[in-house]
Order: sequence, then C-alpha cells, then structure tokens
Amino acid sequence: MRITVNGTAHELASAPLTPLLHVLREELHITSPKAGCQQGSCGTCTVIVDGEARRSCLLPVAAVDGAHITTLEGIGTPDALSPLQAAFLEKAAAQCGFCTPGFVTAATALLAENATPSRGEIREALSGHYCRCTGYVKILEAVEAVAGRAL
Ligand code: FES
Ligand code: FES
Repeated sequence: MRITVNGTAHELASAPLTPLLHVLREELHITSPKAGCQQGSCGTCTVIVDGEARRSCLLPVAAVDGAHITTLEGIGTPDALSPLQAAFLEKAAAQCGFCTPGFVTAATALLAENATPSRGEIREALSGHYCRCTGYVKILEAVEAVAGRAL
C-alpha cells in the first residue's frame, strides 16, 4: 500500500486493517492526529483524506490506499502558522491542545469547500469534535475570523 501524506509518498509496511491513525503515528511518526476515544466519537484523530475530513481511527489503511492525506503538519508549522492556526492562537481557541488538530483539520477541510460558512455550517462541520478545556465559542470565532480569507 502507498499513501501520500503532506506531499510525501510512503510505501507502507503495516497490515491492511491497521487503522490509519496508528499508521500515521507509529509507522510514519506523524503525531498530530491524536489517539482519543479510538471509536469515532471525539474527532481528535481527524485528518483530511482526498479533501474530506475523516476520522483516522476508523479507517483501515487499506481503505485509503493511494490517497492524499493532510495532517496538521501539512497545514502549517510553528514558524509559519496557517491563518486558521493563527486565529486559534489569537482567539485563545486552544488550551491543552489535545483536540486542536482535529478541529483545525476539520475546519480547514470545511473552508476549502465553503470559504464563507455560516456559524450553523461551522457548527455542523465540527459537530462530534469534543474539547474538554476551551468551550466551543472561541473555536467557532476562530473559524469565523478566517472565513473568506486565503487558507
Ligand atoms: S480517536 Fe478517532 S474519533 Fe476519537
Ligand atoms: S484544548 Fe484541551 S481538549 Fe480542547
């Protein structure tokens, strides 16, 4: 199997039914997708698969053979934050940060598809993502702050 992650192609050694989350973290050492519930319920493992936000804990890697995957590492870096990441910082939309990769990847996928989402559309795209620290208003405000701007 072969996947492209953040623009780099990888031949994989993992077994076909290994969750993509574990392939990313343990084989490729890409650690922004977090192992939270590992049952599809919390959103912190979310990555972008061929343009769509997907929960990597639920995806056997064989199901994404040949796919292009973007993780938080492919969206921005500490020295060059994406506008959305900068908005999370500015709006204090992250505290411990455990949920943040999932929120940022899901919101990035939303904004790529719909540059000016309504608050209701943002809520819907981020529904099922859980944050135990920040509350959700600041996260919604961070996404709204970059709506209509280049990602
Ligand atoms: S770890 Fe995948 S949804 Fe919670
Ligand atoms: S910032 Fe801690 S869980 Fe969301």
